[in-house]
Amino acid sequence: MSLGTDVLALAYLVSAALFILGLKGLTHPSSARRGNSFAISGMVIAVVATLLDGGIHSYGFIIAGIIIGGTIGTVIAMRIEMTAMPQLVALLHSFVGLAAVLVAIGTWLNRDAAGLLNPTLAAELAVGTFIGAVTFTGSLVAFGKLQGLVSGAPLSFSGQHLLNLLLGIAMVGCAIWFWSDYSATPLLLMTAIALLLGILLIIPIGGADMPVVVSMLNSYSGWAAAATGFTLQNNLLIITGALVGFSGAILSFIMCRAMNRSFFSVILGGFGAEESGDESISAAAAERGVKAAAVEDAAFFIENASKIIVIPGYGMAVAQAQHALKELMGVLEDKGITVVFAIHPVAGRMPGHMNVLLAESDIPYENVKEMEEVNPEFSTADVALVVGANDITNPAAKSDSSSPIYGMPILEVSKAAHVFVIKRSLKPGYSGIDNLLYYQDNCSLIFGDAKEMCEALFTELKGGH
Ligand code: TAP
Repeated sequence: MSLGTDVLALAYLVSAALFILGLKGLTHPSSARRGNSFAISGMVIAVVATLLDGGIHSYGFIIAGIIIGGTIGTVIAMRIEMTAMPQLVALLHSFVGLAAVLVAIGTWLNRDAAGLLNPTLAAELAVGTFIGAVTFTGSLVAFGKLQGLVSGAPLSFSGQHLLNLLLGIAMVGCAIWFWSDYSATPLLLMTAIALLLGILLIIPIGGADMPVVVSMLNSYSGWAAAATGFTLQNNLLIITGALVGFSGAILSFIMCRAMNRSFFSVILGGFGAEESGDESISAAAAERGVKAAAVEDAAFFIENASKIIVIPGYGMAVAQAQHALKELMGVLEDKGITVVFAIHPVAGRMPGHMNVLLAESDIPYENVKEMEEVNPEFSTADVALVVGANDITNPAAKSDSSSPIYGMPILEVSKAAHVFVIKRSLKPGYSGIDNLLYYQDNCSLIFGDAKEMCEALFTELKGGH
């Protein structure tokens, strides 16, 4: 059976339009579900149209792939914790990279049967192999760092940049060699060099910058897919690859801007060390007079407030405290207290992390405000309740020019009349630095798990203890 060129082109056009509508939908939480439905429909049309196109010789492998891959994907998607999403995304990107390399090598192996090698295709194969191989190993290293399989600390050695440069030049040399004689040696050399480059480019990048790197690798995987589209002469793959490539690049740029980091300083690495945890800082901080508060103290101030702003962060995600927060919000609104949720663009560990969790617990979008909108409101709030957030509230970003996060925009929580911070210890957040907020007069820390403390606040305020 064959669909005919025009019908196939039309199906691909509809798919491409649906992918664009999908991306548009994902720009706001309220339309994200609809966006996902558009993208899923686009993909179903694309897959069905491709399968019905006459070019397929045997359906056996494809059906087996859909069943095995679909089952694994469904199980992973249902089991994955939201906090482990960045490493899952990194792992999935590595598959796209590997697929691009395999398509390039497969096309080369098939060159005699199809009689298709020409200078244009050779250039496409070189580009596909390069981007695909870098994406493959780079994403695997990012996955290892985020999953804690390898150290999250930046790993650098002297002459690293020079080595990368030499490898890049060797890579270009091999690509020209391959382009001139289409032989196996330069293709394999190119693949090996690109695989090594992927590792070398990602190991010097610290854990704190990993989400930006994942987004950048997302962009690479898009370009790898686009290169594969040229090789396979599949227009939809080219369009989809370009959409992923550009959206990943734009997202990386937005994340860098939100953290006040230049894209090149991220790529050249070095910021952010091991996952938090300097106990000696904690001990010293306690001696320097951080105030601890009991749940009852906070409940007293909250009960007498007319407006409170809740600042969720990574700790809320870890503790899965969003449902407890929703209940807390209910009891506060019953008392006539206005509750606003303040979202920092890089709160948590991935873009939109907090929005997704708050939406999951049905907190209405109109109660959720982004940083620029909410910052002027802190001075009118009686209480700022920080739930498992740290770096995004650190005034050092504004006042201490020697701080690694200096210049990053923050949520200006200290302008509220009273600040309560729920966290388990005095350990720093992801950037590994002390938070000056904790030493301010109007700030007290409630030590404990975010979910347990929010539940305790709820019980206290409901008067049911
Ligand atoms: P962090 O600064 O990482 O602070 C999270 C805090 O949550 C920690 O201080 C931790 O303190 C606390 N915590 C952990 N588990 C907890 C639990 N079960 N209950 C209560 N508290 C808990 O998080 P943030 O304020 O959301 O800032 C995000 C950081 O990630 C920024 O540095 C940002 O630059 C970085 N980052 C984010 C992104 C994106 S896109 N979101 C991208 C790149 C980098 P305890 O251990 O004392 O409890």
